Amino acid sequence: MPRNLIWGNPMAKLSFMPENHIRRPVGTGPQGVFSRGFYFEVAILHLVTRFRYTVFSMRNTVVLTGIKPTGMPHLGNYLGAIRPALEMAREPHSDARFFIADYHSLNSVRDERILRSYSYQVAASWLAAGLNPAETLIYKQSDVPEIFELTTILMAFTAKGLMNRAHAYKAAVDANRKKNQSEDYQINMGLYSYPVLMAADILLFDTDVVPVGKDQLQHVEMAQDIAKMINHNYKKELLKIPEPRTAPELMNVRGLDGRKMSKGYNNHIPMFLPEGRLRKLIMRIVTNSQSVEDAKDPDICPIYSLYQLFASPDEQTNLASRYRAGGMGWGEAKGILFEKINEALAPMRDIYDALMADTSKIDAILDEGANRARVVAGQTIRRLRGAIGVGR
Ligand code: TRP
Repeated sequence: MPRNLIWGNPMAKLSFMPENHIRRPVGTGPQGVFSRGFYFEVAILHLVTRFRYTVFSMRNTVVLTGIKPTGMPHLGNYLGAIRPALEMAREPHSDARFFIADYHSLNSVRDERILRSYSYQVAASWLAAGLNPAETLIYKQSDVPEIFELTTILMAFTAKGLMNRAHAYKAAVDANRKKNQSEDYQINMGLYSYPVLMAADILLFDTDVVPVGKDQLQHVEMAQDIAKMINHNYKKELLKIPEPRTAPELMNVRGLDGRKMSKGYNNHIPMFLPEGRLRKLIMRIVTNSQSVEDAKDPDICPIYSLYQLFASPDEQTNLASRYRAGGMGWGEAKGILFEKINEALAPMRDIYDALMADTSKIDAILDEGANRARVVAGQTIRRLRGAIGVGR
């Protein structure tokens, strides 16, 4: 069996793309997303997993993470979250599930067009960044109603005091106090019980590992606590206890002003800006007043810091010595950085633009993902309904 039919040729993700972007793997037809090749890969993967599971009693590691749709991801999201998560998904025994947490966004995004567009942007970004839907499950939270049934079950086992301690909720209360508002001002139950919904997202899939940013660590710990309460009550391991995994510290991506890249600081570089706008934005990176002739220190420079995240070791050494030698102005350094970033983003941008131009392809991928997710979700829910005494 050629390797690419089982584990996926990296180009296979392109099998749903317009003709000019495609180098099709053997066996895929021109029919679009659900080409025979796509189904074939899914079927083979399914058989391989089944076989490993039943014959060797091996279970793949379930890796799951949710992405709150808040618009087009920026380079910080890409380097700090998307790229490492996709690398984890490619590890040999991992069974990865990435979903769009649209009901988490509903707590703050109250415009239907914006919410829908954010969800598409996030899905298209992950697909463009290399998520292969034949290998990695991608779905939208709102398409999997089992999550909400599990949320209701978990509610009964979640101490109110636990929710009072959630950092995000406490930060909102503190902000209100500072502004002399009532503590509850603009805090809805969705925000307050956010960790319960997130626990349901995780626990429904017998998740082993949850890749998250540091800010989400407490939420994963809360999911552990809630699962333990249930297991303790029914005296069996009804729910698997998940482990968080945070990305290494080194992924400190600096923004236009040299601070950590963040939408909140408005110093971010969105992933899929048209080329011209990307160049303009990169030209706005803040630099000091050193002249062209001055020797410069790459290690304190935000331009060089971003360059390192995209360039090969040789290219990094080259640019660093040009910094130290003097004779290179900031404009030139920014031009070099733009070329490097653009080289990495251009192929992804083509895919992103094509997906956004016709979102029915995204819909088809998400529908298929939801169907597959619901098979697993249904099993967990039946198991729980039986165990807690509501099912027959
Ligand atoms: N709360 C996460 C965030 O804001 C998104 C999220 C929702 C999530 N459900 C999840 C992350 C489950 C990991 C697992 O980024």
